[in-house]
Amino acid sequence: MRIRLVAQAPEIRLPSGRQIRALTFDRHVPGPELRVREGDLVEVTLVNRDVHDGVSIHWHGVDLPNAEDGVSGVTQDSVPPGGSYVYRFRAPYAGTYWYHSHQHSADQVERGLYGALVVLPRRRAEGVDIVALAHTLHGVPLLGASDREERRRVTPGTNVRLRLINSADVLRRFGLGGTGFRVVGIDGRDKPGGGTLTGVSVPVPAGGRYDLAFPMPANPVRLGVRGEDVGLVLDPGHGAVPEVQFGADFDPAVYGAPSAPVPRHFDRHFAVNIGRRLGFFEGGLHFGWQWTINGKAFPRMPMYMLRAGETVEFSFANHSHVAHPMHLHGHHMLVFARDGRPVTPWWSDTLEIGQGERFDVAVIAQNPGVWMFHCHNLPHAEHGLVTHVGYEGVTTPFRMGKSSGNEPE
Ligand code: C2O
Ligand code: CU
Repeated sequence: MRIRLVAQAPEIRLPSGRQIRALTFDRHVPGPELRVREGDLVEVTLVNRDVHDGVSIHWHGVDLPNAEDGVSGVTQDSVPPGGSYVYRFRAPYAGTYWYHSHQHSADQVERGLYGALVVLPRRRAEGVDIVALAHTLHGVPLLGASDREERRRVTPGTNVRLRLINSADVLRRFGLGGTGFRVVGIDGRDKPGGGTLTGVSVPVPAGGRYDLAFPMPANPVRLGVRGEDVGLVLDPGHGAVPEVQFGADFDPAVYGAPSAPVPRHFDRHFAVNIGRRLGFFEGGLHFGWQWTINGKAFPRMPMYMLRAGETVEFSFANHSHVAHPMHLHGHHMLVFARDGRPVTPWWSDTLEIGQGERFDVAVIAQNPGVWMFHCHNLPHAEHGLVTHVGYEGVTTPFRMGKSSGNEPE
């Protein structure tokens, strides 16, 4: 599968008529919805027409070879205006992913350099498959490409898969009205054995993805994002449109069957204690809260070093007074305990760690490289909540900073 994506900075017009000066892939926000099949070789040519800070594309949640990870200053140099770059990888697992620039990401993602990536299973599934990507573009809430409620015709009895993606900087709560649903996928991995839920909200961390499934009823179904004027009505052609229900939060920790067995033995344990302190950053230009890991702020944060083949435990604790959606590149984390108590394990690549919460996760070190490990509230990453996971014996020729022009955050 060959794809070409052109980064450029046009003025775009939203369905409400608002005009916004955005950064785009192919003149659309979000960029084109990419659909590939599990195991397919995907080749994407990124062309930068006129984004003057340079761009890159990170394939969020896809555990691909390190050289294809698309992080400026870590796995490549950012692509300057007039330049291009080719990514090539096999999509290893069916599931819901997204892509975004990882050059000046706090700025470029917010302004529109992102899109959905769906990896379909090899066996064709019956039914409709819909991406619902929530974003905030210059303060304007979007669901997909729209800043208002949209409608779509769906025949009763059709199997519906709704792929919720949150590309904004903070958690979004999705809700449905008019149907129950099952959660069938989290962060690009199947979630087996879950029962039907009604009325619950589905909190999706910044950068996270949750897949819902239900058979289309004879009445309309309404999807909403709490507190935002966007939505999607699935319309069978008749019946009153219901209100969206935003009940208690869905909790993956007590849902369905284990996604994988918890390893019995760990080769290494790492602590990830997230805190904050007041200080100067960005070379003394700003004074404010600095995010810290184990008491150190970027760039003084240590790198977590693994050896290929190890099974590693990361224990997160957050005493920073703010939630942090922690994202690990190139690997999935099997979440197996919260606040010291076992949970029904699930795979995550973007895990919301609330204030005061503790999580224990297992990572299998099977993808050598230098990998970003950061908060996906991207302004937090810009303000220091960034570290790296490295493998012994692996280095990178790329550099971050002023002289290279590579600024991944
Ligand atoms: Cu979604 Cu480091 O990225
Ligand atoms: Cu954060």
